Amino acid sequence: MPSKPSVAIILGTGLGKVADEIEVTQGISYADIPHFPVSTVEGHSGKLLFGRLGGKDILAMQGRFHYYEGYTMQQVTFPVRVMHELGIRTLIVSNAAGGTNPSFKVGTLMVITDHINLFPEHPLHGKNIPTGPRFPDMHEAYDRSLIALADAVAKEKGIALEHGVYLGTQGPTYETPAEYRMFRLLGADAVGMSTVPEVIVARHSGIRVFGISIITDLGTEGNIQEVTHEDVQKAANAAQPLMADIVRELVKRTA
Ligand code: HPA
Repeated sequence: MPSKPSVAIILGTGLGKVADEIEVTQGISYADIPHFPVSTVEGHSGKLLFGRLGGKDILAMQGRFHYYEGYTMQQVTFPVRVMHELGIRTLIVSNAAGGTNPSFKVGTLMVITDHINLFPEHPLHGKNIPTGPRFPDMHEAYDRSLIALADAVAKEKGIALEHGVYLGTQGPTYETPAEYRMFRLLGADAVGMSTVPEVIVARHSGIRVFGISIITDLGTEGNIQEVTHEDVQKAANAAQPLMADIVRELVKRTA
């Protein structure tokens, strides 16, 4: 039976366990997809996976593209354009982020309720691609019903879920203490280097979005310490079982 997914997952940091749970029916190397960016950093190029999760057909991106790697915003978001052409209606994204909300701890899971785009280049810069309007509305970039569904799943499973604003910045440096302080003043609960471009293009394509961050380090007064990629990965790995529970159930219950 051919797979006709309406839900896509970008397997960002923390969704490795979800990747393991997908019953993959077909994996297509990015290198074999016309115009797809090809990863230059890793030895392998990443794959678009078709398969099943939570009893549903899904599409998953194993390996995403970050602006700091040197891709243009058009390249970073090209996979979301492909998802739209394949009929995707719902996109689930995850990331690792630094916490700027003083009530957060390492390991906090934060549902993204809104974002602040501080990337230096906009993914919709240039001629408008007519999947959406020239001036797309962003008043509800993160779908309220999906947030409510995630809250219900978390409550059922006894998982603590925070809500907050994700601020996207280019990296690749982590923030100085003054930058964390500035981002908090700007209204951020968490800061990271991904997600915002993909979400903007998804919304411009009429795809509804659910986003979730794992707080892997703290950028709050009195808690700022050296951050390494290894620390970030370690904290993200610890949260994987909870992330898998939420994402699987969300997929299962998504129409
Ligand atoms: N800042 C930016 N990106 C991040 C962080 C952070 O503190 N942690 C994980 N990704």
